[in-house]
Amino acid sequence: MESTNIYEQEKGLAVLDYQNYPEGIQEYMAVEEAFLLKHLQGAKSLLEIGCGDGRYLEMLAPVVGEILGIDYAEYLVNVSRKRTNNLPNVDVIHGNAKDLSSLLSKTYQFATLAWNTIGNMPPEIHPDVFRGLSQWVEERIFISTYQCSDAVMQERLKLYKNCGYKVNSINGNKVIMEDGQHTAYAYPINYFQELLESNHFSMETYDLGFCGVMIVGNNQNF
Ligand SMILES: C[S@@+](CC[C@H](N)C(=O)[O-])C[C@H]1O[C@@H](n2cnc3c(N)ncnc32)[C@H](O)[C@@H]1O
Repeated sequence: MESTNIYEQEKGLAVLDYQNYPEGIQEYMAVEEAFLLKHLQGAKSLLEIGCGDGRYLEMLAPVVGEILGIDYAEYLVNVSRKRTNNLPNVDVIHGNAKDLSSLLSKTYQFATLAWNTIGNMPPEIHPDVFRGLSQWVEERIFISTYQCSDAVMQERLKLYKNCGYKVNSINGNKVIMEDGQHTAYAYPINYFQELLESNHFSMETYDLGFCGVMIVGNNQNF
């Protein structure tokens, strides 16, 4: 049977391909990249949750001391490993972000969940993901996600169409693809505020164009 995780197939790469991005999402990606490059310049260590095809591993390796990428799609772990095999300060492991305590053996200064990685995880695992982040990330987590509005939904629908994904239904800010192959979620800011505060993070937000928002959690525990 075909995998129901779109990122376990080549098809999953379409959503990581700039050529498929409508204008609003191109702007979101460009502002996201500039934001992360600026804020992670000179960082000691970084955990990239949902590293996908490794674009940030490659982009940030020259400015960050050490990076660990984690992804639960084995297919993309292999793509990332190939892309970074000449970068000695980058490592990539296969695993689920809800299991950080069994995957990690040391803490990291920062973590990123870029390009709506958070919206690719079912909400049931979010409490475990945020609990793990509060234990394993010393300073700050950077979560980039979609804003919730009709205009952003229109951009998202253009993206899925360009990627060749067929949308089965839309439920609020959640888009369910045909055959249950993928569900892409987006959440309002107060959803993150609760998750962050209940795990001892304070929150700041920054707009990433009209489509995206960077949610920054500052760990109050360390
Ligand atoms: C939209 S892609 C973003 C990829 C990358 N962060 C980027 O900015 O190009 C989302 C990624 O999150 C990964 N992912 C989703 N749920 C995950 C989980 N529970 N644990 C680890 N990775 C996960 C997917 O396999 C996919 O590679």
